[in-house]
Amino acid sequence: MLDLKKLIDGMTVEEKIGQLAQFNANVFSGSDADITGPLVKNGLTGDDLYRIGSLLNFKDSKEMNELQKRHLEGDRNKIPMVFMMDVIHGYRTIFPIPLALGGSFDTELVEECTRMSAVEASSAGVQVTFTPMVDYVRDARWGRVMETCGEEPILNGIMGAAQVKAFHGEDMSKFGGLATCVKHYAAYGGAEAGRDYNQVELSEHILREFYLPAYKACIDAGVDMLMPSFNVLNGVPAVANSWLMKKVLREEWGFEGVVISDYDAVGELITHGIAADKKEAAKYAFKNGCDIEMCSNGYIKHLKEMIEEGIFTEEQLDAVVLKILELKKRLGLFEDPYKGASPETEEKTCLTAENRALVRKAANECAVLLKNDGVLPFSKEHKKIALIGPFADNHNIIGFWSCCGKNEESVTVKQGVQSKLPDVEIKVVKGCSDKWNEIDKSRFDEAVKAAREADIVILCLGEPQNYSGEGNCRTDLDLPGVQNELAEKVIGANSNTAVLLFTGRPLAISKLDSIAPAILNMWFPGTEGGNAAADLLFGDANPSGKITMTFPKSVGQCPIYYNHTNTGRPISKQRDEMHNPYASNYIDCGNLPLYSFGHGLSYSNFVYEGMTLSKKEMNIDGEIKVTVTVYNDSDIAGKETVQLYMRDLVASTARPVQQLIAFEKITLGPKERKTVEFAVTEPMLRFWNSENEFVSEKGEFTLSVGYADNMYYTERFSLK
Ligand code: NOJ
Repeated sequence: MLDLKKLIDGMTVEEKIGQLAQFNANVFSGSDADITGPLVKNGLTGDDLYRIGSLLNFKDSKEMNELQKRHLEGDRNKIPMVFMMDVIHGYRTIFPIPLALGGSFDTELVEECTRMSAVEASSAGVQVTFTPMVDYVRDARWGRVMETCGEEPILNGIMGAAQVKAFHGEDMSKFGGLATCVKHYAAYGGAEAGRDYNQVELSEHILREFYLPAYKACIDAGVDMLMPSFNVLNGVPAVANSWLMKKVLREEWGFEGVVISDYDAVGELITHGIAADKKEAAKYAFKNGCDIEMCSNGYIKHLKEMIEEGIFTEEQLDAVVLKILELKKRLGLFEDPYKGASPETEEKTCLTAENRALVRKAANECAVLLKNDGVLPFSKEHKKIALIGPFADNHNIIGFWSCCGKNEESVTVKQGVQSKLPDVEIKVVKGCSDKWNEIDKSRFDEAVKAAREADIVILCLGEPQNYSGEGNCRTDLDLPGVQNELAEKVIGANSNTAVLLFTGRPLAISKLDSIAPAILNMWFPGTEGGNAAADLLFGDANPSGKITMTFPKSVGQCPIYYNHTNTGRPISKQRDEMHNPYASNYIDCGNLPLYSFGHGLSYSNFVYEGMTLSKKEMNIDGEIKVTVTVYNDSDIAGKETVQLYMRDLVASTARPVQQLIAFEKITLGPKERKTVEFAVTEPMLRFWNSENEFVSEKGEFTLSVGYADNMYYTERFSLK
């Protein structure tokens, strides 16, 4: 039996500190790595190399095996390094971005996709993934909205917990089992003005009700690690923020896992103006419970000195080392430091036909039919198809954070349509660029001619995949470049047009919406995007995704979200388009969004036939059963997510106008009817009050089915 305490007793202080250091695998690269290059840039010596506890990013199983072997030969304690990477929406076979996946409202699908990515990643040597990312978001300008499940705290938590479970698999110590790291704690998604890394100022009740619950849900699900965010939260950067890191995380929530800084976030305490130098930065981070320092060298350079000066004790260091070694043990690394990763396994495991089939299914389930005036689904009988737009034959549709996925391995829309309809004549015209600063219209005539001559037009528009993701924020949320003008010309030439939209965020596409007969939002669908698009366009799949982040009418409405408070001067839906003086609204735009949270159409016609409550009064320990009946009044089988919302009508803190409290995705055959039952209990009614506690207050509530500001039925009940 491996005795970790004994192992630690035999280690030098330098060796112990090494366990707290993580660097990019490139510190080992180059023939003369010991004297130049990344090693020197990171302020490391050759001796440090054999002490490093974990590595971030590496090419493949071959490199991983070489690095581990070399390390174990050089480390006298024979403690394996642990290899970490961001496996966000697939390792090699890429499924839709998380913002899309959340909108499937399908936890089983999330688990299936996550499991597939865990096995692929494991075959390549990944042992820890920096997932789930559950940052709550309200501002579509922020590029990292694509990594989240959007503006719904409960949904974010449910999807995050599903990922934790699926990455672990049945036995985390075996091949295919990955440890997880929830991020970015906390409120990284609250960046002011939607600008990445910008400061966050939030009241405690907004933090507690909206931003923190999803991190907590992942902790409850057994997440192994946690990453503090880059941002300043209420004046103090997360990694040095004792309220966040000590009081809430460790004391209140009892998190005992490993905390790892984000990339150079410890070093950045100096740039934030919080620490005078590296030593002080390392001091603040260590003091606040940051166990591993990612890609900065404050611990390696200064922790020993701080122990000698009595700022920290060696026992404190030992406790952190123990946590890290325990994680390595749980991962099974002391038994097999390679965990079965090898080029042969990788070759067999990644990008298989089975994995491709799964991500195709996922892309089908995540696409959102935003608008349909009846043109979709297209008949397969058409003879001539025009595929127009910058995404018509574009492999760059897998999305940001695609890990080891390759654009060239993805299926384009053209390829997808061609393989579905091999005998049809397809004309492809790019028409224009998808970049914001490229405004060449010289190919418009060609596009118009192709549209005129075709039976149907598939107009493929959107923003490039590197317009979202880390560091990629926008101030304009409309289609970049001259795509709106292209759309106007093409739709003018042929009204039998459906738009396929590719995006990593909600877009403000009011202009397009006003002219397009149909808009099918593919998000960034992943490796099988083109095949999924063809399935959906021609009715082999029926759209069932919902948006989990509001699409604004105009960027000036941002941040815009469904779970807002009422204000003292709201305006009615009927008066939304006019300016209502002295009311909470704008002169030049209504308050309603273009598409609300929870919106998403289907080729089926779902009719909500009624909602009943088992009683109209509930005691604090009681329960109300809510039943909702949905009928599929069509000849097409489909899926619908039934969403239950709650509103607390009078409370000591102003409450949101709607809050999602439960959902269920159901499948309905043609002319089929189903009844869904939800149980409403008191904890679902709680909020963070001004006394700093989660409570419910007696009084009147409403329950509604529908979505955001489009409710089909609303009933009242009271909490006694
Ligand atoms: C920076 C990102 O903020 C974080 O999400 C990621 O896990 C690390 N880099 C490591 O790649």
